[in-house]
Amino acid sequence: MTSKTAQSKPETGQQLGLQDLQAQVETLQLELAQKNLEMAQKDLLVHQGHQAFLEAAEKLQYSYKRLQKEVAGLNLELDQKNKELERNLIERDKVKNYLSNIFESQANGVFVTDLQGRVTSVNRSGLRMLGAKAQALTGRHINKVLRCKVVPAKAEPMTESGGMADFQQSITFTREDGEALKLQASGTVMNGENQQPLGYIVNVHDVTKLKRLEEHAERRNRFTAMGEMAANIAHEIRNPLGSIELFASLVRKGLMEGDERLELVNHISTGVASMNHIISNLLEYTKPRPVSLQKVNLHYHVSEVAEFTRFSASQNQVDLKLGLKAKRFHINGDPEHLKQVFHNLILNAVQAMPEGGGLNIASRVRTLTSPGLLRRFGDGVAEIPGRLEVVELSFKDTGMGMPEEVQNQIFDPFYSTKARGTGLGLAIVQNIIESHHGIIDVESRNHQGTTFVLMFPLLGKERAGA
Ligand SMILES: Nc1ncnc2c1ncn2[C@@H]1O[C@H](COP(=O)(O)OP(=O)(O)O)[C@@H](O)[C@H]1O
Ligand SMILES: [Mg+2]
Repeated sequence: MTSKTAQSKPETGQQLGLQDLQAQVETLQLELAQKNLEMAQKDLLVHQGHQAFLEAAEKLQYSYKRLQKEVAGLNLELDQKNKELERNLIERDKVKNYLSNIFESQANGVFVTDLQGRVTSVNRSGLRMLGAKAQALTGRHINKVLRCKVVPAKAEPMTESGGMADFQQSITFTREDGEALKLQASGTVMNGENQQPLGYIVNVHDVTKLKRLEEHAERRNRFTAMGEMAANIAHEIRNPLGSIELFASLVRKGLMEGDERLELVNHISTGVASMNHIISNLLEYTKPRPVSLQKVNLHYHVSEVAEFTRFSASQNQVDLKLGLKAKRFHINGDPEHLKQVFHNLILNAVQAMPEGGGLNIASRVRTLTSPGLLRRFGDGVAEIPGRLEVVELSFKDTGMGMPEEVQNQIFDPFYSTKARGTGLGLAIVQNIIESHHGIIDVESRNHQGTTFVLMFPLLGKERAGA
């Protein structure tokens, strides 16, 4: 179309092109001006933006610095607070340790429970006393633990004075290892702030040793008084006895062989001898010869006494056997006293078998570790704590045995079930064993026989080897 127009009117076409061009230039110029204006506006905006940015940045920096300062201040404060807290913690730890030391150092067992009586903590002595582990006790009711009603089954109502009553209890407690303990338990209510009851504190005191010593002392006193009286009488009797024996021997001399009266005189002499024996025993019990301990061979002395009594035993149809198997048999002892022990035990055994029987004397070495057994030897006997080597000597007969009520009294002086017994044999035996730091036990079944078991601490290996 344009070419058609250009062909028909060429001159006008040229003019038109020029005008067009001019117009185009003008529009272009206008556009340029507009663009320039826009640019200038944009520049202005950019400038303004930049300015705003700078201002903001400055503000930000300022705020940041202030913040930094504030943070530094806060840090300092925090540091101080931390230090203070640390000091408080150390102080608290110290107090806690101090209290815990007091708790743990108590010789008494201390059991702390909640209001329901459930154990919350136990100190070392408490655990040792009961032979138990803490885990086994915590959470259990204290009455179950001590097998006795030490705290009320239910939390007790307040008394008029506003508190709860304290309580005290004597307990016989048998430990797992069989040791029977005498305990004294006392409980108090533990109050918190505002006198609010929180639980109980049960204090347990082991009085086993004390009670045993008391019993021992009381028995000693009783028997000493009895013995002294008996000793006085014995002295009084001994002199006329001497005269009787003298007269009897004079009478015997004046009689002819075969005279019937000779038997009567002999009866007198036998009676005197028997009374003399009783009196010697009495005096031995009340005023024993002093013990002089030395290294002795137990096998040697027990064999000596056994051989000495073997004949009279066989006359009573008692078969005496020795089975001395101990590899070590040296102890710290007094030979004369020990021989008296063996003699008394053999004599009792023979007397317990009026129709004959057997008596076995045996020995063996044992290493004891049971605390209950060790304690019976007394303090300081074991060279190694918790361990003691002993030589055990047993006298086992097949005699009449004895019921329990007899067994409980056989070591009491003057206790005898025999028509002509003094009841001093075993009392003397026990005294001698004690002075040798040994122990004696009896095991007996009525009509079935009796075994007496002696244990003596062995002398150390190096000393025994000699
Ligand atoms: N081997 C034994 N078998 C049975 N009973 C015994 C034995 N040894 C001691 N007894 C009992 O112990 C008691 C006390 O013994 P002991 O003190 O020696 O006094 P005694 O022999 O004078 O009676 C005896 O009377 C007896 O009942
Ligand atoms: Mg006797």
